[in-house]
Amino acid sequence: MKYSLVAALLFQSTVVLGDLFPIHFRAPTAAHFLDIVRNDTFDFGCRPIAHPTDDGHFTLHALLTEEQIAHVQHEYQYASEISIHREVDKRQERATAPIGTGDRFKAGTVSPVGLGTQATGATIASIMNVAEINSATTALVNNFGVGSVTLPYKTFNGATQKAFFVGAGTDKSAYRLYLSAGVHARERGGPDNLIYWISDLVAANKANTGLKYGSKSYTAAQVKSVLAAGIVFFPLVNPDGVTYDQSSGSLWRKNRNTKSGTSGSSIGVDINRNFDFLWNFKKFFAPGEAPASTSPSSEVFAGTAAASESETKNHVSVYDSFPKLRWFMDIHSAAGDILYSWGDDENQSTSTTMNFQNSAYDGKRGPVGDTAYKEYAPAADVTAIKGVAAKTVAAMSAVGGRRYQAMQAVGLYATSGATDDYAYSRQWAKAGANKVYGFTMEFGYSTNFYPTASEFNQNILDTNAGFMDWALAAIGVGLN
Ligand SMILES: *[C@@H]1O[C@H](CO)[C@@H](O)[C@H](O)[C@H]1NC(C)=O
Ligand SMILES: *[C@@H]1O[C@H](CO)[C@@H](O)[C@H](O)[C@H]1NC(C)=O
Ligand SMILES: [Zn+2]
Repeated sequence: MKYSLVAALLFQSTVVLGDLFPIHFRAPTAAHFLDIVRNDTFDFGCRPIAHPTDDGHFTLHALLTEEQIAHVQHEYQYASEISIHREVDKRQERATAPIGTGDRFKAGTVSPVGLGTQATGATIASIMNVAEINSATTALVNNFGVGSVTLPYKTFNGATQKAFFVGAGTDKSAYRLYLSAGVHARERGGPDNLIYWISDLVAANKANTGLKYGSKSYTAAQVKSVLAAGIVFFPLVNPDGVTYDQSSGSLWRKNRNTKSGTSGSSIGVDINRNFDFLWNFKKFFAPGEAPASTSPSSEVFAGTAAASESETKNHVSVYDSFPKLRWFMDIHSAAGDILYSWGDDENQSTSTTMNFQNSAYDGKRGPVGDTAYKEYAPAADVTAIKGVAAKTVAAMSAVGGRRYQAMQAVGLYATSGATDDYAYSRQWAKAGANKVYGFTMEFGYSTNFYPTASEFNQNILDTNAGFMDWALAAIGVGLN
């Protein structure tokens, strides 16, 4: 009896640690992947994205179990145009960046120092643990006068959540930029990217200096102009998930709510499918589309109701506290992209009535490449959003030479209930709500959720230059 229990536990921990393998599919067109991405038991990272390759093909990255790999190999054994490739060497047997132990910010007395205010070549040794994320932001409050807002809902495991604001004084209606991170627990370094960038801004502002990220430099005047736009930041949206991921190393994505499942992968809701935007996807989308999942064990489980989760409600409460926010960026990894609205279908600018609120189109949304439905976006918005995304990826690519691409979030396949579409939908869905342009940044290369120490540092440089140019481009388009 005792022996079998030990054996079962050992087996379980092996499975948890080692059951997902990074792979990519390769095919001549993105459409070749349509059947693969319909399987909501597969893990495609934040969103399934087909990336064009230099030799004119497309790749689709995923994390699969051995059983799933065997399944697709069998399914596609006669489909010679689609191939599946493992990436074992690069990802599995290498040292990932350590998680901090203790508290390097000494209970909010020592401020974080970003890479943009340090000499070229300086590095940060480890990823912040959850206590350090709280301590780092407390230090910014204590030492730089950053403001904080305690958000109304406690997480499932009882964490109190805070958002912060800096640059435009105490009037909350003066704030225009909103950034959040840590929605998906395993996307390590997301909160760090954001906190170190804010640390750079406030330190450079105080010293009246500029910032430098690799080969991208910013002047003191640019720093001041970005701060003056008013920045709201919510650096750790999913503390329960991050706590669990950091202690288990299990590539945990969702929160830790046990309402719909109490063990293994059935625990938790995907916060990035839980927002109130076409949440009830079975009703709103075409049959067969799987922009989220109703299965608790899926990585894209949408939860039991729109905004059922505390983290979602807290994220939404920030828009109500800062009513004039105009530009939103949600920080994720890992794909090397900037994504912009829409994510539920392709866009069109000709029919204002073909939109997410019109029930005449229920059951038609989602499929890419058809004409039954495309989501309405005013042409001027499309131009603005595309321009800002292009400038953001140009900055990120210039830092150190890694390639980033800008693309519409729907890409290959639709999503529902995501942070970026929710942001952009508010102007129509909620009376009196301000227009907010929504973006998702996917730093790092595909499925590389646990970066090495050197990749972690490169991610900070790339993202922070991206945030600078995103903010500057947003200011250029307009804040009002
Ligand atoms: C999804 O893949 C699994 C194998 O991992 C398979 O058993 C299942 O039938 C697939 N589902 C669909 C809808 O194809
Ligand atoms: C949709 O948005 C893209 C930008 O991704 C733009 O190039 C295109 O013109 C838009 N399509 C329509 C029909 O407005
Ligand atoms: Zn993500």
